This record gives sequence, structure tokens and C-alpha cells, in this order.
Amino acid sequence: MSDPRQDAIRRLTEAGVDSPRLDVRLLWNAAQRNPGIFESYVKRRIRHEPVAYIVGYKEFWSLEFSVEPGVLIPRPATETVIEQVFDAYPDIGAPLKILDLGTGSGCLLTALLKEYPNARGVGIDESDKALMVAARNIASHGLQTRAELKHGNWMENLEEGWDVIVSNPPYIPTGDIAGLDPDVREYEPTGALDGGPDGLDSIRALAAGFRQHLTGTAFVEIGAGQAESVQALMAAAGLSVHHIAPDLAGIPRVVVTGP
Ligand SMILES: C[S@@+](CC[C@H](N)C(=O)[O-])C[C@H]1O[C@@H](n2cnc3c(N)ncnc32)[C@H](O)[C@@H]1O
Repeated sequence: MSDPRQDAIRRLTEAGVDSPRLDVRLLWNAAQRNPGIFESYVKRRIRHEPVAYIVGYKEFWSLEFSVEPGVLIPRPATETVIEQVFDAYPDIGAPLKILDLGTGSGCLLTALLKEYPNARGVGIDESDKALMVAARNIASHGLQTRAELKHGNWMENLEEGWDVIVSNPPYIPTGDIAGLDPDVREYEPTGALDGGPDGLDSIRALAAGFRQHLTGTAFVEIGAGQAESVQALMAAAGLSVHHIAPDLAGIPRVVVTGP
């Protein structure tokens, strides 16, 4: 009998999937947990459903995160946020107070609390679905005693005095959403992507709250081509931009700022 993986690679290629070999390997490995399900995984991927939603997990910062539709899939570029926190706070024993705005799957908060064993943190999201998945991830990584999750609109009604604020906010201009890959456009939550007409609505809201809530440093992910505008809006909010760090592709990706 022919290898079902070769047939799957051919069908994913015909469907215009970008990385058919890698995807088939991931789907095949995941199907070993549940024999017989491989063909249904392949059919879902042919319809461009992201691999992470099909298998139910995604790796971020070498940790496994549960994900499902309604919650953004963690991206490798977002690991730049963690790297930048390390650069700014090299003492891993520091008892940092960390705020993660728009926590989604909880990937940033979880990775930081794993790396800083004496830190405590709060994750905020406006999406109940995201908070449910984040709670699952916080629990599976054993962080319940140091992490709290809250429903909210950015820093509204939140206490002040945060050492570290991290955020990967929605930053895609509304008009660009229709041109995204179908994997993203058709499956990932618009509320995690849409940053308003110029993509900067959420970043403006964050900048406005930092002066009051931040005592240390904020690390904010931005989109390609937004560095200059974000620098200007942070300055207009009375913040100083320390630098903007590139991701592994060399794209200015994380604004490091403070009061
Ligand atoms: C781009 S996703 C980032 C998720 C996760 N931090 C990550 O990096 O994978 C943005 C998140 O912000 C949340 N969000 C959008 N607007 C918000 C608001 N006004 N207040 C709180 N969270 C918000 C979305 O629900 C979504 O989970």
C-alpha cells in the first residue's frame, strides 16, 4: 500500500498550502496520538485550517501551548518580546511584577513566568475564549500561584506600578485584513488582528495608559513598516523609546519604551 503521507503532500501542494511537507509531518506526528484521524486532519488542512488548530497545540519559546479557534496562534516573531525582556532584566531572580496586555493563549506571560521564577504576573484580555485557553496553559505549566487572568480593556481599572508590561496587540490595518493568507483571514480571530484604519488604534491606547501604569519598561510588538509612526505616537504620549528591536527576519518588531 502506498504511504498516505506522500498522497497527503501531493494534495496539500495542489491546494496551494505553503509548506506541505512540514505540515504533513506535523499532522502525521499528531495523529499518532489518535490513530485513524490522519485523513480528517489532511482534509481540514486542504481547506487551509491552520495546523495548530487542527492538532490543538503550538510551540512557543520551546514550550507547548494549547490553542483553538478564537485564540491567536503564537508566532515566532513574538519571541523577540521575551528576548528583549531578558536583555533589559538579566537578573532572573528578580521579583518582577509583569503585566501581559492582550494575553491570548497566555504565551508571553507563561514564558516569562517560567524564566523568572520569583516573578508574578497578570494577563488581560477582552476575549473570554482567550482567557479560557490562557487559564488552561497557565495551569498546564504549573503557574496558577503566580499568574492571574482578568477580563478587561487594556489597563482600564487596573492597578498601577508594573515593572514589565508586554503586549502583542492587534496591529493590522483594517483594509489589509482581506489580503491576508486564507489560513489567517478565514480562521484566526479578527479581534486579535484588526488594529483599526491605520493599524495603530491599540498601540495608541497602550501608549496612553503606560504613563500611569508603568514604572519600569514596556515591550510592544508592532507590524512591519510601523516603527516610525509608533515612535512618534509614543513620544506624543510622553514616553521615551529606548530602541526598536528587530525580529529574526530583520524587521523592526518590538518597541522598548518607558516613562
Ligand atoms: C495579536 S493577539 C496576541 C495574543 C498573544 N499575546 C500572542 O502574542 O500570541 C491580541 C490579543 O489582544 C486581545 N485584545 C484586543 N483588544 C483588546 C482590548 N481592548 N483589551 C484587552 N485585550 C484586547 C485580543 O483578544 C487578542 O487575544
